[in-house]
Amino acid sequence: MPATVIVGAQWGDEGKGKLTDILADHVDYVVRYQGGDNAGHTIVHGDETFKLHLIPSGVLYPGITSVIGNGVVVNPKVLLAEIDELNAQGVDTSNIRLSNNAHLVMPYHILLDRANEEKLGSGQIGTTHKGIGPAYVDKASRLGLRVQDLYNEDLLREKLEIVMGDRYSQFASELPSLDVIVSEYLGYAERIRPMVTDTSLLLHRALMQGQRVLLEGAQGTLLDIDHGTYPFVTSSSPCSGGAVEGSGVGVTHVDSVIGILKAYVTRVGSGPFPTEQFNSDGQKMGEIGQEFGTTTGRKRRCGWFDAVLLRYAVRINGITGLALTKLDVLSTFDTISVCTGYRHEGIEYSEFPADQRVFQAAEPHYEQLTGWNEDISGARKFSDLPQAAQDYVHRIEELSGVPIVAVSVGPEKDQTIIRGELVP
Ligand code: GDP
Ligand code: IMO
Ligand code: MG
Repeated sequence: MPATVIVGAQWGDEGKGKLTDILADHVDYVVRYQGGDNAGHTIVHGDETFKLHLIPSGVLYPGITSVIGNGVVVNPKVLLAEIDELNAQGVDTSNIRLSNNAHLVMPYHILLDRANEEKLGSGQIGTTHKGIGPAYVDKASRLGLRVQDLYNEDLLREKLEIVMGDRYSQFASELPSLDVIVSEYLGYAERIRPMVTDTSLLLHRALMQGQRVLLEGAQGTLLDIDHGTYPFVTSSSPCSGGAVEGSGVGVTHVDSVIGILKAYVTRVGSGPFPTEQFNSDGQKMGEIGQEFGTTTGRKRRCGWFDAVLLRYAVRINGITGLALTKLDVLSTFDTISVCTGYRHEGIEYSEFPADQRVFQAAEPHYEQLTGWNEDISGARKFSDLPQAAQDYVHRIEELSGVPIVAVSVGPEKDQTIIRGELVP
């Protein structure tokens, strides 16, 4: 059976964790393919809330194998802490597999991430300070340490001597000694040993046996290093192209791409955001939607739904179906604005402007839709939704040209209206 990709259609935090948890009922493997513990994916099951950073959102189901692919940068300390936390919550984590080619996040990456941000001052990216950018820089510079290096102490020391003695010498006084780092990481190596494998081969064999694989993106389209709002992006490829690269699954195995989007838009960190609302509307979205970062606790910036961005996400990712989340958050608005295009220096843009100067200064134009002003969190069928809420969903479908296969009306798994085929 083929593979499905889940991708964030905005700036992250669209509800990928919740949707992956729902799709988990239909698949055998859930794979993280990029990013690291900068991600924060939330799953709510009754009284229990699970916040996952590195572990795929299928881990709650014993029948699913959770794979951390080669494209992920892994801080083993964080991974083990997450496993301990899940175990304390009664979750069986024996089905986690970790690529031997995944790169490691090291203590110096975290120090450099912070130092880089401090240097940028008011121009800072607003990173999560998890060392993600520097880890990917080392990977591209061919100076990175990979999971497999943990099982060759001589090589580990040799590589560390080079990077710590040269590239990261500025942090010598803040870092533990090389010996201390080696012994710490060798300790992690022992604990993660049962998980480490050739995950590309594992997934290939599963696909050949007719099993279904779900590739779970972190971050979102507009944070993609190539296609996002550069330089205010993350350092990896959350888009669907990154899914095959970061998992080692052949591109021809992917037959569907589900884009996750909020009924409005949020962003954490710096960078342009044309439909951002600095007024009481934005504040209300943040309060009702509890828009605080899962990983850093930072307040998320909020604004109206933007069809230009969605059309762009559909194009870049080849999205075949959409899942619309947090529709319930808009329930108390009398009117709801929808951005259908931008204007800049007298020119109209209906597609995402490739020139970042245009995007930064883009003036959104809006159409107004009538709100529904009633609680929809109990809706389980599309026909349970008030007409105005149905109209909003239909309008987004019209503007994007893609069917909305699921509508989420609350954080719980069952607070979901399934309208179409989630996986073929
Ligand atoms: P992710 O990074 O894309 O997995 O998203 P996050 O977990 O960081 O943020 C989404 C937040 O919204 C989480 O707290 C979810 O529990 C919550 N959530 C998801 N879907 C809905 C929904 O339909 N309504 C409401 N009110 N909350 C939702
Ligand atoms: P999930 O998977 C939202 C943002 C940071 C910052 C930029 C670069 O939960 O959707 P980084 O630490 O990656 O170098 O920071 O990217 N960012 C996220 N925003 N959701 C995320 O993940 C994010 N991961 C990184 O806020 O603007
Ligand atoms: Mg998140």
